[in-house]
Order: sequence, then C-alpha cells, then structure tokens
Amino acid sequence: MKSSTYLLAKKQNRQKITALTCYDYPTAVIEDSAGIDIFFVGDSVGTNILGYDSEMEVTMDDIVHHLKAVRRGTSQAYILADMPYASYETPKQALDNAKKLLLHGANGVKLEGDREEVIRYLVEHGVEVCGHLGLLPQTQQEKAVQGKSFAAAKELIEVALILEKIGIFMLLLEMIPEEVGQLISEKLSTPIIGIGSGRFTDGQVLVVNDILGITPRKLRLAKKYQDYQTLSLRAVEQYKEEVEQGVFPSEDNVRHMPQEELQKLIEWVKQSL
Ligand code: KIV
Repeated sequence: MKSSTYLLAKKQNRQKITALTCYDYPTAVIEDSAGIDIFFVGDSVGTNILGYDSEMEVTMDDIVHHLKAVRRGTSQAYILADMPYASYETPKQALDNAKKLLLHGANGVKLEGDREEVIRYLVEHGVEVCGHLGLLPQTQQEKAVQGKSFAAAKELIEVALILEKIGIFMLLLEMIPEEVGQLISEKLSTPIIGIGSGRFTDGQVLVVNDILGITPRKLRLAKKYQDYQTLSLRAVEQYKEEVEQGVFPSEDNVRHMPQEELQKLIEWVKQSL
C-alpha cells in the first residue's frame, strides 16, 4: 500500500506522482492494476456520477458510500477522500468527519482553502491532510483560472508555505498558471499535485471521466484517452437491435436440459396440462 512517505520520496527523487479520481469498485480495480499512485475520492463525484449540479450538494454519506466501494477494489494505491462542503466548519466537526473517512478506507483527507485552524487540529490528531488551493469548487462556481495577478499569485504562494508549516502531507493546486504551479512545487518540500496547473508540479490528477470520455465535455486542462460515451452508446444500440431481431441470445448464451429429462417433461406437459 502506497504511503505519504512513498509519495514524498517520489518528489525527492523527481519521479512524477500519478493520480486520478476514482468513484467505484471496477474503476478502482482498473486504476490499481495500472499502478496509479493516488485515488481521489473527490466531491467531483457529485457532478460526474450522481448528477448533481454542483460539488456543494455532495454529503458525507455520498463520499463514504463511494469510498467504501473504492477501498474494496484497491490494493496498492493511496486513497485520498474529499471532505465535502460544510463538513469541516469547526476543528471538532472536521476531526469527527475525517475519522469517519479514515474508518471507511481513506488514507488521508483533502479539504479546500486557507483553513489553518482546522488543518492544524487534524494534523495534531494524526490525520494526513492534503490542502487544496487555486480554484475551490465548493465555494467558487465560476471555473476561472486563479492566481493570474502578482498579488493573487503571491497570496497563493504564501498560503501554500503556511499550510506546509502546519503539516499538510500534500497540496493540490487547481487551475492556476503554470509558472505559479512551478514556483510552489520548487519552494515547497511537500508533494504538489496539479490539475490544470501546468507541467511542472510534482504530479498530476485528472477526473477519470474526462480521460475515459465518460462525461461529454471538452476541457483544456484534460486529455481524452478513450471515447467511452461513443463506444458505450454503440454497444447498447447493438444490444437493443440484436434483442429486437432475435439475434441475442444465441446458442452460445443458453443452457439445455438433459435429453432424458426433457422427454419426461414433454410427456408430463402432454398428459397433464
Ligand atoms: O473533487 C475532486 O475530485 C478533486 C479533483 C478534481 C482533483 O478535487
């Protein structure tokens, strides 16, 4: 099982860290077989799987449900669970909820923003915390690049340094300029994972639906490696057609009674029904 120490060593050895979101058992099995380092059981599950309009609708119960499925399919990756919106309003509430996530299979938790008091409390109680700066989907509905001005970039770097001091084990940077992602990755000894934050962070994460082409959208920050939507639609249409035309099931898909038993049954039907 990969640990935070393993992830830190990757940064120190200049090996890129690989991460993907993961929301269910079969995807966990695939990502695990591929050797992905970190599975993000993110609140992006809301818009990508549950049909919600925003990350704000995702609850602790939602995350726990998906986390448990991911845990069952994982044998090597580090599982990072999102603390959903409003689940870490106070240090005590955050710790209760983080403990719940750890109990159900997370190795660490991620929470958004400059929440020094909460993060300090979690770290003091032995929870591995990943910070999340840049675009913060739980509170920013407009998906715009963050940290483009000197002042905004400076603030991002300063907050990142503070979070490192408090003891986060990793930091996610979402949708910031490549230059700022690079500076933060160089200045911090904590592993930095980027999404839409350029080429020079210590690792990358993407939403698995985007790389597989499950969610029909085109994002500049992502790359589509498979066209699941088209392939699935084709398969479902073909199945429908074959059922309608009597092509499926075929001889290959059916089971027969032994001949003797069948004869007895036919006789019985003739005489009794
Ligand atoms: O919620 C999430 O899944 C995330 C990813 C976009 C990294 O934070």
